[in-house]
Amino acid sequence: MRSIKDIDIMNKKVFIRVDFNVPMDNLQNIIDDTRIRAVLFTLRYALDNQAKLIIASHMGRPKGKKLPELSLKPIAKRLGRLLGKNVKMANDCIGPDVKSLVSAMKAGDILLLENLRFHKEEQENNDEFAKELASLCDVYVNNAFAVSHRVNASVVAITKYAPVCVAGFLLQREIGYFSKIMATPKRPVVAIIGGAKVSDKLMALDNMLDHVDKFIVGGAMANTFLKSKGYGVGKSKIEEDLVGAAGAIMKKAAKRKIKFYLPVDAVVARRFDPKAQTKIVPIQEIPENWMAMDIGPATSLLFSEVLHNAKTVIWNGPMGVFEIDSFSRGTLAMVHSVANCYALTIVGGGDTDVAIHKEMATDMITYISTGGGAFLTMLEGKTLPAVAALEDCEKKDK
Ligand code: 3PG
Repeated sequence: MRSIKDIDIMNKKVFIRVDFNVPMDNLQNIIDDTRIRAVLFTLRYALDNQAKLIIASHMGRPKGKKLPELSLKPIAKRLGRLLGKNVKMANDCIGPDVKSLVSAMKAGDILLLENLRFHKEEQENNDEFAKELASLCDVYVNNAFAVSHRVNASVVAITKYAPVCVAGFLLQREIGYFSKIMATPKRPVVAIIGGAKVSDKLMALDNMLDHVDKFIVGGAMANTFLKSKGYGVGKSKIEEDLVGAAGAIMKKAAKRKIKFYLPVDAVVARRFDPKAQTKIVPIQEIPENWMAMDIGPATSLLFSEVLHNAKTVIWNGPMGVFEIDSFSRGTLAMVHSVANCYALTIVGGGDTDVAIHKEMATDMITYISTGGGAFLTMLEGKTLPAVAALEDCEKKDK
């Protein structure tokens, strides 16, 4: 992909699409600003090269409504503080007011546009809307990896109308790490897949069979695999219709001599409740009316041993009901196992990154992706639509 570094941006109006869809509390305080920090090096590069920065993002899913609680105003403040510069906030992302703000910009100025999804056309990948956005700039930069799996106007249709399209450093880094581990990984490669549903991860599991040497499966989705092996899993969540598919994945793995690891014990409870009584049982002994909520300590030990000789580790999804303290130990233990292994470690999606931040292990992981759905789409072996659009635009320029 052509990079922002490959073109002259001095004095140019540079439209940078980022993903500032960050978690906020009810008072509109930013709970985690990782996604804002992740684009700072691209923004600083553009500022150092005297561009005029027009920054655009979505926030939440307002479906075309102007919801004040989903305004990017708090982001403008945080971004200003992080950059040590004044960030001007526009009241919209298109229209005459935005146009006049843009035409008054000088090199080094920063304008943050209001939430793109306040216009329903954004998620419809609408051409007219994309044209309006593109008309604001001389250069379009996609630096929004986390939304690049969506066919939205500001990441797909806009590439048809912007004069020049390039990738920002974050997008390049995310794709770069991924391509490296898929194309030329150091082996053994271990994939750790967790989370609630097999249905969400089935395609990723299937695609990963072509790349990994070992699979670790945890989280509620492991129950469907255990069921397929004939274990009774009490009242644990399973996807009955996917028991066969889970079995097929394990069969394929066995045929290719890929080692497949499932939990050997579990933390169980009768209900989803922080106050519920819990106990630890071997996987063969989950009582009738109890549910597996987390992997048990024997499983944590087993999984950490599996990781011992890994040279590449890819992790997506928690090992249990991580948001409830009494069911979070398995995921937190996994954070330490991944952080301590002598491997290139890549983590993304779901609550996995939240667990890593909670354990303050960020610096011990090689790369934490900013993408949830986008990371999973890559695991599925698919090209992200926004990346394909960027590449098409580049071909057109040649
Ligand atoms: C995300 O948080 O995964 C991205 O910002 C995409 O958001 P979406 O799932 O609402 O499209």
